[in-house]
Amino acid sequence: MDTVGRIYGDVGLGQFHITLSRPVERGDYVAVEDESHGAILCQLDDLKRKSDLDLDRADRMAGGVETPIHESLLGIARTIGYRDGQGLVKVPTLPFRPGAEVFRAEEPLIAEVLGLKRHSATGAYVGLLRNHELRIELDINQLVQRHVSVLAKTGGGKSYLLGVLIEELLRHKVTCIIIDPHGEYGSLRVAAEKNGAHERFGVESQGFGHRIHEFSPDVSLNPNAKPLSFSLRHLDPRDLLAFMGLTNVKSFLGPMKKLLEEVQSLNPDYSVKDLVQAAGRTEGPSFEILHERLEYVEQTRLLAPEGTTLKELVQKGDATLINLRGVAPDVQEIVVGRIAATLFDQRKKEKVPPLFLVIEEAHNFAPQQGIAACSRILKNIASEGRKFGLGLCAVTQRAARIDKSVLSQCNTQLILQVTNPLDLKAIAQSIEGLTDGMTEMIQSLPVGVALVTGGGYHTPLFCEVRPRATRHGGESVRIVDP
Ligand SMILES: Nc1ncnc2c1ncn2[C@@H]1O[C@H](COP(=O)(O)OP(=O)(O)OP(=O)(O)O)[C@@H](O)[C@H]1O
Ligand SMILES: [Mg+2]
Repeated sequence: MDTVGRIYGDVGLGQFHITLSRPVERGDYVAVEDESHGAILCQLDDLKRKSDLDLDRADRMAGGVETPIHESLLGIARTIGYRDGQGLVKVPTLPFRPGAEVFRAEEPLIAEVLGLKRHSATGAYVGLLRNHELRIELDINQLVQRHVSVLAKTGGGKSYLLGVLIEELLRHKVTCIIIDPHGEYGSLRVAAEKNGAHERFGVESQGFGHRIHEFSPDVSLNPNAKPLSFSLRHLDPRDLLAFMGLTNVKSFLGPMKKLLEEVQSLNPDYSVKDLVQAAGRTEGPSFEILHERLEYVEQTRLLAPEGTTLKELVQKGDATLINLRGVAPDVQEIVVGRIAATLFDQRKKEKVPPLFLVIEEAHNFAPQQGIAACSRILKNIASEGRKFGLGLCAVTQRAARIDKSVLSQCNTQLILQVTNPLDLKAIAQSIEGLTDGMTEMIQSLPVGVALVTGGGYHTPLFCEVRPRATRHGGESVRIVDP
């Protein structure tokens, strides 16, 4: 075994100090032999170089005087544990002995204690354990049943990683609905160009062509999409109030019912225009407000006598993109609200298969401050969706700006580089088991490395994200060509 140092000083059950004789990196796995349980897996949380160089001598060095420096590399390690006879991860009940040797952990021990299996039938392969050749596969049942968040600063690699996750879900025939505000995910149809990374990670390039369905309220801007609209005939008075942004249901439900009955009796194939006209000719303050809001709904052009059907939108085992590129933010909120509410309702009645609903730019749709037209339904799905097989995936560049109750309901977190202190604080508050060392490391993660928590693993893992099998659609726009 490869010795890297020795334990010194006071030794705690969860944490201890190492004087290092070999260079190691923060986050590396090490092992200590325990008399009763054999090798115990530990992880280096922090490193520092201690020296006897004081200010005086450093000043003299600056003046050209040579001076010997005695230095040592010290580390702080955290005990992860060992697997007991029943396969549970346990931490020894007695601290290690000072002076005990610390080894570089070998891959079989890391794999056993962390629970990294080679290939599992229900695993979504997202990448390799950092600096190792061990696959990280997230448990798909946990992903869908217990929600996911993808968090990183802008350009941190969220959409790339989400693409990886969706490829895996498609491989496992999990139905996905993706709210795609920038129209980035159409590239899931196209196979990626292969590079060296594909070989190392064991990834084949593969496009999902006909298994990606795309809809948009604006097909002139998004010509690959089919038109998205909602069927007026399937909306009851409550649904219509939601489209109008009227949350005071008690005041408006009666007048709205009256309007609907009136237009239905005149023309069974009624349009929003008929409703606008009916509200315009009815006297009373409620109808004035309904008239104004119905005019707004008419302008959104989201409602049609025959809208997109649920069967078109939800195709078992495939992914549907709701491309909102170029759509006004208020209209985006209405679309997300309606789709989320319909999916939730249909899942409760088991009329659609279990689903994974991905919300990109989730801070806009479930904000911590203020309210979006779809906030309430997204919060409901976050808290109750798992009972009905409706998994939520919230993707955001502003962890501090997304509704805290939504964030804390996500049991699997995929975190890439985050530097904003408020976002880091929100992440630290919503995730159990994140150490101070890990929070610090999140600030300097290179592109392509994620901290994975949950997903079937009991301890957070640093993951080198695997290359995409499909083309990534969120490439930065080149302003100046070389
Ligand atoms: N794992 C990875 N391997 C290689 N390149 C990556 C990886 N992750 C991200 N990139 C590259 O980094 C850039 C930014 O990635 P991405 O579009 O996923 O960021 P983002 O977090 O979604 O940004 P935004 O907040 O602007 O949407 C892209 O050009 C992408 O190709
Ligand atoms: Mg993105």
